[in-house]
Amino acid sequence: MFASKQPNIGTTIFTKMSALATEEGALNLSQGFPGFDCDPVLQDLLAHYSKGHNQYAPMAGIPELRNSIAEKTKLVYDVNLSPISEITVVSGATEALFAAIHCCVHPGDEVIMFDPSYDAYDPIVRLAGGVPIHLTLKTENGFRIDFEELARAITPKTRAIYVNTPHNPTGAIWEMEDLNSLAEILKGTAILLVSDEVYEHIVFDGKQHASVLLHPELRKRSFVCGSFGKTYHITGWKMGYCLAPEYLTAEFRKLHQWVTFSSATPLQWALTDMLKMPKYWQELSSFYQQKRDLFAKALKGSKFRLLPSQGSFFQCVDYSEISQEFDQDLAVRLTKEIKVASIPISVFYEQPPEQRILRFCFAKTDDVLIEAANRLSKL
Ligand SMILES: Cc1ncc(COP(=O)(O)O)c(C=O)c1O
Repeated sequence: MFASKQPNIGTTIFTKMSALATEEGALNLSQGFPGFDCDPVLQDLLAHYSKGHNQYAPMAGIPELRNSIAEKTKLVYDVNLSPISEITVVSGATEALFAAIHCCVHPGDEVIMFDPSYDAYDPIVRLAGGVPIHLTLKTENGFRIDFEELARAITPKTRAIYVNTPHNPTGAIWEMEDLNSLAEILKGTAILLVSDEVYEHIVFDGKQHASVLLHPELRKRSFVCGSFGKTYHITGWKMGYCLAPEYLTAEFRKLHQWVTFSSATPLQWALTDMLKMPKYWQELSSFYQQKRDLFAKALKGSKFRLLPSQGSFFQCVDYSEISQEFDQDLAVRLTKEIKVASIPISVFYEQPPEQRILRFCFAKTDDVLIEAANRLSKL
């Protein structure tokens, strides 16, 4: 009998719901990927760099891309990072999350996460021999962190805490005061942060993204995991980066070299040039805010109650006026019956609370969003 290392793990909900959506010919508002193509400028850059740039890139990423990331970080956060010792190019934020945890978590170390939490966090910790500690964000306070509860959860074994802002699946964001509260709690400890900021450029209503990079005390202990997939509508490229101080980057790279060694060379060259054009990330928030608002307006007459979406490209809705079904059953039923796929958020909890919430991804064309909302409004 084969002894599985992950006996309780199946395929992710994203794979399941996307497969069901395809099978049912449903509008797929489940998995978080854009329903439209990337900019032709980027396609042309890739075509250009696919000639003559087809061998292994340096392990940490081509210096040109690391320079571009450093320049962007300076422009956006006014933070100077060394492209040589603090920036590593990886094959998607997923790799960054994996390598960050695996390079610092020893067997028995505790890693704190806030549920609903992105579904990779817990298994990555377990695979490292660590112990995931799940705290629950309260729906009624807008999925914000209870810092007193966090302070109580810290033990001598706490090795790291996951930060995720803008937050998947809820679309909640951290404010600067949250970073201050966290810094206060971490003072005098060696606890590290794995800060998942893949939606850093998608923040709504004029708010600013509260990156841990902006907080010198937090930056010193953080792996910041970023993704080009969300910023440039290229989730299929699986390209990202990890920003961390030198002592952490050195350990991170030891892992990265055994996971992928290096990421796709022509993609790195194309992104190097793309990053030099700030308008693409500067316009992203308003692009997605328009989609969030369009979807919300189209759902106005429905029985869904929309929860606040402050960032990311997700809209959570409470469906308790429509059904008392378990969210995983309802998500499947809606995919089959009205051909609209969503994500049930109970899958992001260790112990799902009594609530009726689905997550819709609004990174879709306006036509698809309106059609999906029309179908949902008939419920
Ligand atoms: C919160 C969060 N972290 C990480 C990732 C993975 O990013 P990538 O596709 O760059 O691996 C995603 C993708 O959906 C995400 O939503």
